[in-house]
Amino acid sequence: MTPPLRSRASACGKVILLGEHAVVYGIPAVAAGLPGGLELRARPLADRGAPMELSIPAWDVDLVLRIDDDHSVARAALEVLTHCDGPVQGWRIEGETSLPARAGLGSSAALTVALARLVLGQDADLDTVVEASLTGERVFHGEPSGIDSQVAARGGVVRFVRGEAAQPVRPGGPLPLVVIPSRIPRSTVDQVARVRQLVTDQPRIARPVLEAIAGCVDVGISAIERNNLAELGEVMSICHELLSALGVSIPRLDALCSTAREAGALGAKLTGAGGGGCAIAVVPDPAGPIVSALEREGVAALTVTVAP
Ligand code: PMV
Repeated sequence: MTPPLRSRASACGKVILLGEHAVVYGIPAVAAGLPGGLELRARPLADRGAPMELSIPAWDVDLVLRIDDDHSVARAALEVLTHCDGPVQGWRIEGETSLPARAGLGSSAALTVALARLVLGQDADLDTVVEASLTGERVFHGEPSGIDSQVAARGGVVRFVRGEAAQPVRPGGPLPLVVIPSRIPRSTVDQVARVRQLVTDQPRIARPVLEAIAGCVDVGISAIERNNLAELGEVMSICHELLSALGVSIPRLDALCSTAREAGALGAKLTGAGGGGCAIAVVPDPAGPIVSALEREGVAALTVTVAP
């Protein structure tokens, strides 16, 4: 028999601190969970045979989930529910979030992880939840590395290698970050394809850049563990230049990183696929001057402290 949905479930958002794109080629990456990612609530519909409803007003999602639907959110949601042997009709699911959608902050992984937990329970085995999430993530992103699902499920700081179990990283102190939205939409699939083209066309140039990103990840993880925020900032800024060399930065992201650094950030880089989306900066405490400098450019930055 199909189990009922739980009344609520949640998942984290994420920022990739170091290692995006390189992670696709088997290089480690390190990412942090953003608390307050997505909270889903479910209640049964009066008509138990009616199609499933999914409403997340913050993301402009208000859907009736039908098997033959073309909408990627509807297809991904049904994929996850079906994979978990959950109900695919007779329920209304509502979501609350402070994460922007399609900005590289793990919104789709937060959705697919929280949906899996509505069926399996909030405390379900993490690997089982991640596997279910990936069935939906493939609808959105083709063949994602899986880092978003791992962080959405686990939270905290995580070292991730494609195809391996994620390892928790223990920060030596609070990790103060500023998340800087460019508000420029981008496609992860397109950005990953752009890097793949470069790796195919110019392997002798692109491969060493990926190796240099691996160096940033190793040094950055050690800096996080020792709470050496100055060193973490330095490698984040270097990593931004390396991602730029791979062709995934844009002038707006470069400018936002410069503004943050000039206002006192210890380092800044694009996060996620690039081409738009967000930048992140590691900042001294307090982050006020950096947030104000960005505000003067019309950018509403979010301050987040990742707890040790
Ligand atoms: O979708 P985003 O912006 O969180 O970026 C995903 C990170 C990539 O490394 C570019 C792709 C992947 O599958 O890991």
